[in-house]
Amino acid sequence: MVKDIECFAVKHGVYHCEGVPLTQLARAVGTPAYIYSQSALEANCAGLIRAFAGYPTLPCFAVKAMSNLTLLRHIFGAGFGADLVSGGELQRSLLAGARPDQIVFSGVGKQSEEIDQALAAGILMFNVESPYELDLIATLAGQRGQRAAVSLRVNPNIDAKTNAKIATGLYSTKFGLPEAALPPLLDRIGRDPHLELVGIGCHIGSQIVDIQPLRDAARQMVRLASHLQQQGHKLRYLDLGGGLGIRYDQEVPPSFSDYADALIQAVRPSGLHLIIEPGRALVGNTAILLTKVLGVKTTPERHFVIVDAAMNDLIRPTLYGSYHEISPVVAAAGGEEVLCDFVGPICETGDFLAKGRRMRLPAGGDLMLLRSCGAYGASMASQYNSRPRAPEVLVSGTSHQIVRRRETPAALWADELV
Ligand code: LLP
Repeated sequence: MVKDIECFAVKHGVYHCEGVPLTQLARAVGTPAYIYSQSALEANCAGLIRAFAGYPTLPCFAVKAMSNLTLLRHIFGAGFGADLVSGGELQRSLLAGARPDQIVFSGVGKQSEEIDQALAAGILMFNVESPYELDLIATLAGQRGQRAAVSLRVNPNIDAKTNAKIATGLYSTKFGLPEAALPPLLDRIGRDPHLELVGIGCHIGSQIVDIQPLRDAARQMVRLASHLQQQGHKLRYLDLGGGLGIRYDQEVPPSFSDYADALIQAVRPSGLHLIIEPGRALVGNTAILLTKVLGVKTTPERHFVIVDAAMNDLIRPTLYGSYHEISPVVAAAGGEEVLCDFVGPICETGDFLAKGRRMRLPAGGDLMLLRSCGAYGASMASQYNSRPRAPEVLVSGTSHQIVRRRETPAALWADELV
């Protein structure tokens, strides 16, 4: 993983993305805006592929983390398949050049039309999470005269030691199948000419910075796979999901190679083809959110810095209490430091991007950047308060390309019937 500091750095007192000053980008594309570094993305893609080079592995990028077509095209071009959770993501991925035979369809509530589209596209496999879903896939594959490749997503009941909203490997969550639920499903697959068992898998959560739960899950899945193989089930793939965390604040996540070594060491004895579904680790540190200070308001309790980005642009701080480093684009010299709350224009007290950050009080017109916004930033943006979604800009060296233009106000109501 590259340190984002290399691609987003202060040069001559001004924050740059690669060779482009963010002041220049703000003039060119306006604010708020998501700014991606192509070098960071390329380095991450190459680094992850290199880390797994010693073992047959298909890395499937979790498209939910970042779904811009141009950036997806780079990711698929670098050798990644796709991990999807909706028909929309399937269509996006195919448009961006994903190979159907490198697509896995995950997700807790797949719908008939989505399954049908995936069968038509000829994807690698469905990660099945519920008995009813298996029935649905069998019926739809039968109607098409096809055989659907399925992998059973197991819930290993492992605590990923992450935020409760993004922990997915415990029985208290809606995800996966408990091991005890597998035997009737395996029988069902064995009896149905329209189903083929190709693997098993799990995904225990996101933003995991402790390698141990990832290792435990890998070992548990390998034990289960060997048990199933002894019973005569033929397996080809072991899908260990995504989840590798990044550094937002003081976290020290495992490096790509530590992560790969832990997984490969666990999986090698099984001989199974490894699938991973990284999202955040591939793109999290490849983008910043650029925003402008509208003004400052001091109350008896707080210094509020009101910026033009809001919770509709970046929902992570208010949804998960997550931390994104915030800095001025132009470093100011001297001055007293105070605690600042960075808030957006949306009419909710929960509309904040950063709280209690010690720095010199910014002034109206100043540009600020929020770090590590490449994953679950733009892809989770909404139009709340009828705010058009921010553009996405890709920087390479000294040039930039708008890869998603700022939404127009007319697009906000284009689908409404009046
Ligand atoms: N595979 C499956 C089945 C998943 O559910 C997820 C994420 C991934 C892969 C990718 O996980 P990653 O490598 O990115 O950790 N919106 C939240 C994160 C939600 C993650 C949901 N599942 C956030 O902003 O932190």
